Amino acid sequence: MNMISKLTKPAQIEPDSGIVKVAMYGFTKPGIIPFWSGEGNLPTPEKFSNAAAASLAKGETFYTFQRGIPELREALVRYHQRHFGKSFSVENFCVTGGGMQAIQTAIQIIAADGDEIIIPTPAWPNYAGPLRIQGTKPVEVSMTFANGKWALDLNRLFAAITPRTKAICLCSPSNPLGWVASKADLIAIRDVCRKAGIWILADEVYSKFYYGTGGANRAPSFLDICDAEEQLILCNTFSKNWAMTGWRVGWIQAPKILGPVIERIIQYNTSGTAVFLQRGCVTALDEGDDFIELQVEKARKNRDTVMSALKDFPQLRLSVPDGAFYAFFGIDGMTDSMATAMKIIDEANVGFAPGVAFGEAGEGYLRMCYLKEEHKLAEGLERLSNWLKISHPV
Ligand SMILES: Cc1ncc(COP(=O)(O)O)c(C=O)c1O
Repeated sequence: MNMISKLTKPAQIEPDSGIVKVAMYGFTKPGIIPFWSGEGNLPTPEKFSNAAAASLAKGETFYTFQRGIPELREALVRYHQRHFGKSFSVENFCVTGGGMQAIQTAIQIIAADGDEIIIPTPAWPNYAGPLRIQGTKPVEVSMTFANGKWALDLNRLFAAITPRTKAICLCSPSNPLGWVASKADLIAIRDVCRKAGIWILADEVYSKFYYGTGGANRAPSFLDICDAEEQLILCNTFSKNWAMTGWRVGWIQAPKILGPVIERIIQYNTSGTAVFLQRGCVTALDEGDDFIELQVEKARKNRDTVMSALKDFPQLRLSVPDGAFYAFFGIDGMTDSMATAMKIIDEANVGFAPGVAFGEAGEGYLRMCYLKEEHKLAEGLERLSNWLKISHPV
């Protein structure tokens, strides 16, 4: 009996994330320097972990509020007041199992079998995967690279809207591109979504990792231009700002009226997030601003290191990231980024995510996460440079 054939179609055919494929291969290589995953090297600051440990020690090990403990949702209100200058209500927030579950929950409530969600690509693969699994079609609108910059053609984006479209999903600052939507882009998207009556699904997990001009300490956000109660669902996470990738805690910000709906979906997915983890997250929100600053400064410095190491290779297509913590570089002549990522592992012992993992528009590129230790970054860049000189001489 072929048990696999008895599974649902999506379970049978949904491909692995290309990032995971490379990582699984790379991890078998002693001495590898990995830049494939989207996380920094710093562990969670002790004071956040201590708050979680104290909660556990106190016996906070029981079922809890499915949409998050009130203290965490209140801390989210304070955080958004401080960083976005907006007064939200606790009713605008639901705590989720990481940014990933925020996204999964959002798409479960706005789209179904046969519906469409528009995604500018290259994009993080974890929008298209869960969409396909539930029968919703991810409609990719490819961004273009020219003169050292990625650009989103808004006319093409809006032309992709059909009667089946439920949302435009925008990740800004972008993983993997480091591209950041301008306030004018956001306003145009908001206006078109309002007119079409569709949702804005915003992923702003890298909002604080912003290196734009003018001294702003975060990227332009839909929160700057949207009403709290309009058709905007924003997904976020503790993973990036506070070095908490392994905690698996995130949040959804949405109109108050969606709260009970989201709570029901959480009930039937995970039934909520552990209280002790949420206690650590309260401390992160209330006492973690200095740590965010430190991370962003490190990311900015590392971005400059990467750019100056790679800028003199004419065989590379490179854009200077304005946000997030990734370099997305193309190699002239490379047509199979998955094979190339594997080859670089074998020949240079350094690992990058293949561009094709981020959609067809990412083919011909590799993604490097540069929020790493200085000496490993320097060594990894040297390995890549030496490999380029030998395998792709000018
Ligand atoms: C763009 C983007 N959104 C959301 C997430 C989700 O983060 P997590 O599930 O780790 O909280 C990630 C993680 O890499 C990401 O890059």
